[in-house]
Amino acid sequence: MATAIVYTEFGGPEVLTVTDVAVPPPGVDEIAVRVEAAGVNPIDAKLRAGRRASPALTGPRRVGTDAAGVVSAVGDDVDGFRVGDEVVIFGASGTYASEIVVPERDAQPRPPGVSAEIGAALGVPVGTAYQTLRSLAVGPRDTLLVHAGSGSVGQAVIQYAVLWGARVVATSSERRFDRVRELGAIPVAYGEGLADRVRALAPQGVTAAIDAAGTDEAIEVSLALVADRDRIATLVRGRDAASFGIRAFSGGSPRPLSAIEQGWRREAMPVTLALLAAGRFSVELGPAFPLADAPAAHQAVEDGVPGKITLLP
Ligand SMILES: NC(=O)c1ccc[n+]([C@@H]2O[C@H](COP(=O)([O-])OP(=O)(O)OC[C@H]3O[C@@H](n4cnc5c(N)ncnc54)[C@H](OP(=O)(O)O)[C@@H]3O)[C@@H](O)[C@H]2O)c1
Repeated sequence: MATAIVYTEFGGPEVLTVTDVAVPPPGVDEIAVRVEAAGVNPIDAKLRAGRRASPALTGPRRVGTDAAGVVSAVGDDVDGFRVGDEVVIFGASGTYASEIVVPERDAQPRPPGVSAEIGAALGVPVGTAYQTLRSLAVGPRDTLLVHAGSGSVGQAVIQYAVLWGARVVATSSERRFDRVRELGAIPVAYGEGLADRVRALAPQGVTAAIDAAGTDEAIEVSLALVADRDRIATLVRGRDAASFGIRAFSGGSPRPLSAIEQGWRREAMPVTLALLAAGRFSVELGPAFPLADAPAAHQAVEDGVPGKITLLP
């Protein structure tokens, strides 16, 4: 048996409860993983609250897509992993648990020196950031504006874009300016007058924008500063993107990700693990909560507590 977090109705963080679940032996191409840390993403809270489309609840629903841990069993035909291997899990289902069984393809070897909490922090943010930058073809000739640059997705966006030669202006609260600067971006405070502040910081113009904030301001300022609407993407206002003539990748968009976009989301993980191992990528951790305190972890993510929040079984 394992311990897992589930909900049986949509609602506030309090609908998350701890339960015992059976762990089946891993099947063909599957591995069982003893979870050391699970990543908490805003989408987990949005789904729990019923604020993102999901199937009707017909029984207890598991939570979480990202984790890190140690392989505890391997199924038939698994050739990439052995019992005892340290792994990162991404794009899986129900990672808020003490043990999970996942397809081999949802795991990557965790390099020495990459802690379980760091590993669990990667999946959704790095996949989203990497894919969005690839989709917008951001490169050395670009000045990129990223909204919510201090968040988990924003920090990954900044780091890839800087690595790929772009100049980056990133919005955040002033208390987060140092972190944004440390990653190689020019920080700018969100709020009234944003467009003028960005113009002053980027007199050469802004060529692409990524909205990880979801505010009207983020959309309006992006539209005011970037001439080519195909180079503006929202990750939060997917439902409204078409009416603004901009692009959206998930975030409530009615358009599913293409096979190429999904491929980029997966490609991000080995790329990022290699960068981490080389000391060329940085993850800001927030508070870690015991697994049973999943409601407090969701409250923290909804309160905007800085850094990636994790759950420790
Ligand atoms: N489409 C997708 O596939 C996808 C994937 C991942 C995430 N997302 C969405 O992207 C958003 C960010 O995710 P995350 O994991 O980066 O969240 P996060 O780590 O919780 O960061 C949230 C960020 O929002 C910033 N923020 C708060 N109020 C703001 C405002 N008025 N204007 C601009 N920024 C503001 C905060 O900045 P300060 O702390 O500096 O105030 C913080 O950095 C979430 O809505 C999430 O659901 C979408």
